[in-house]
Amino acid sequence: MKGWVLILGASGDIGSASARVLAASGYSLYLHAHRHSEKAAALRDELTKKYPQQDFLTVFLDCTRPEKVPEFLQQLFQVDGVVFAQGKTYYGLLREMDFREIRELYQIQLETPILLLQKLEEKLSRCKNGRIVWIGSVYGIAGSGMETFYSSLKGAQQAFCKAYSREVATLGITANVVAPGAVDTQMNRSFTPEEVLALKSAIPLQRMASPAEIAYWVGALFAPAARFMTGETLPVTGGWLY
Ligand SMILES: NC(=O)c1ccc[n+]([C@@H]2O[C@H](COP(=O)([O-])OP(=O)(O)OC[C@H]3O[C@@H](n4cnc5c(N)ncnc54)[C@H](OP(=O)(O)O)[C@@H]3O)[C@@H](O)[C@H]2O)c1
Repeated sequence: MKGWVLILGASGDIGSASARVLAASGYSLYLHAHRHSEKAAALRDELTKKYPQQDFLTVFLDCTRPEKVPEFLQQLFQVDGVVFAQGKTYYGLLREMDFREIRELYQIQLETPILLLQKLEEKLSRCKNGRIVWIGSVYGIAGSGMETFYSSLKGAQQAFCKAYSREVATLGITANVVAPGAVDTQMNRSFTPEEVLALKSAIPLQRMASPAEIAYWVGALFAPAARFMTGETLPVTGGWLY
């Protein structure tokens, strides 16, 4: 057994794909969900059956409730890595966004993850090889009109990793962002067929990524030989927006 990884958003598509990759490479996992606890439970059962020597636990947290972080942390003992694959977006002009939507996105994508890391740093440092991987977005690099605040948060995740990686380098902890382009997940299910077609035709590879094609790079950042990579953003976009 390699150690324990906390996957925020394990009930989501990129999070569950990341869980499958990390479980295959020998990790035990804390599988986080917010509303879809049944998905995290089904994933736990699937992985327990496939990797009986490893442990898989489900954990729950609404990231819009940062005051719940201390209670959430009580469920975790060993933590050698964290994957932030939770997230949400709202489409629309910035001037039309409700302040509650702005606060919700901020808490899910930035505030609560950072509060978690403050308290997990000591645990992550124990193995001398701690890993933090955020699922950012190419919008954090290129920006997207109609998703201005979402893009800002994705850029902030990159800036956070650049700065924090310097603080924790001597503890053996690395912090990086995997920045996908368009991925075929529930998050994009509200697009009309015409919108999907237009999106795909703007991507040089002419399609969206599968969640597994993003999870591959999450797994790569957990490989022992990836220990020299830190503070970086790894775009995985099919050539889109470059
Ligand atoms: N799909 C794309 O095209 C794309 C592109 C670039 C970046 N990303 C990023 O990739 C990450 C994963 O997205 P995905 O595409 O895999 O979407 P997804 O399948 O919809 O998964 C979203 C995850 O976020 C969790 N979540 C939502 N609200 C939450 C809250 N208030 N508190 C805690 N967790 C919450 C969901 O939990 P429950 O379902 O249990 O509520 C779910 O596990 C996100 O950060 C997203 O911004 C996605």
